[in-house]
Amino acid sequence: MAILVTGGAGFIGSHTVIELQNAGYDVVVVDNLVNSSEKSLERVAQITGKKVPFYKVDILDREGLEQVFAKEKIDSCIHFAGLKAVGESVAKPWEYYENNIAGTLTLVDVMRRHGVKNIIFSSSATVYGDPAMIPITEECPKGQCTNPYGWTKSMLEQILTDIQKADPEWNVVLLRYFNPIGAHKSGLIGENPNGIPNNLMPYITQVAVGKLKELGVFGNDYDTPDGTGVRDYIHVVDLAKGHVKALKKLEDHSGLNIYNLGTGKGYSVLDIVKNFEAATGIKIPYVIKPRRPGDIATCYSDASKAEKELGWKAQYDIKDMCEDSWRWQSNNPNGYGD
Ligand code: NAD
Ligand code: UFG
Repeated sequence: MAILVTGGAGFIGSHTVIELQNAGYDVVVVDNLVNSSEKSLERVAQITGKKVPFYKVDILDREGLEQVFAKEKIDSCIHFAGLKAVGESVAKPWEYYENNIAGTLTLVDVMRRHGVKNIIFSSSATVYGDPAMIPITEECPKGQCTNPYGWTKSMLEQILTDIQKADPEWNVVLLRYFNPIGAHKSGLIGENPNGIPNNLMPYITQVAVGKLKELGVFGNDYDTPDGTGVRDYIHVVDLAKGHVKALKKLEDHSGLNIYNLGTGKGYSVLDIVKNFEAATGIKIPYVIKPRRPGDIATCYSDASKAEKELGWKAQYDIKDMCEDSWRWQSNNPNGYGD
């Protein structure tokens, strides 16, 4: 039996395929490559020594998905496929709701038609909105999202919850990621954003490699120790390992479960700049800019539920995250180069 990984050519998906293969799982990847390159999967095979069966299929393509399920023996699905650029989602809400929500509904329908009722869904700390408590536990009420991307995550959590309630044969794990950064130690795979990065770490690494002039720090007047935004950065390999643990939870047939995947520590934008400089010896010039609309001051997790129930805890620290992000970027200044 195999694990279907949708979006498996992407940043978190490709790292998760490695951890799944290392743990002995057979993996099948479906991705339409809208935000990724098939080269990531060639690199994964180079790292694990195992081929990655890959189908270039859109999750909106019911017929294409049917063919994958008819051909492969799928047992469970880890569902990463989705569009994720916050700013773009504000400009193109229809495209985001169509891709993320209609895509997931199609996937889930094809799954159940084939008797596959185990799914791990990539959710996000964004569902907490401006969080009612810090650190954020899973008990924290969901909040108002500030963009359509966030709403797709919040709505899909509700949709999967309702589907599981109506049919208890479903096992659903909702994983709320905090801020994934870092890359595989090999430096062969990593985050490969299109155009100018929206997120902090890829922006910093592109400044370091000389592709961008300076970092803009979005606001230094937040109610945080140094005035800049505080986030819970987590190494993508730790995050990937969390999915392997979550699969074990699915195998227990325990219905619906929700976990934060974070480190439980908060770092400010300037902390990240300093840690990156210390880890790499490269100076990152920055200028203070106005706040970015929709940003919140502070967001970090209480990740103790995942530790208690999944036996998962993040192992890598901020130094590893900075070094590994930089190894990937400096070895691959143009990402996968296509
Ligand atoms: P990514 O863009 O690198 O990976 C997503 C993958 O999905 C890409 O390979 C893309 O080509 C594919 N995809 C998109 N739409 C598709 C479709 N209709 N059919 C088939 N494939 C499709 O992003 P990532 O950072 O690896 O994120 C993976 C998941 O985790 C996403 O659902 C994202 O929303 C979620 N998430 C990411 C973060 C983050 O900061 N990176 C935080 C929280 C949640
Ligand atoms: N930041 C800058 N300059 C930049 C980029 C970011 O100062 O060029 C700051 C932001 O203002 C924020 C922090 O760095 O304070 C982190 O910003 P990111 O864009 O890297 O990450 P976000 O916390 O805004 O959001 C990310 C993902 C979301 C996801 C969320 C989950 O982009 O999809 O983490 O916590 F939902």
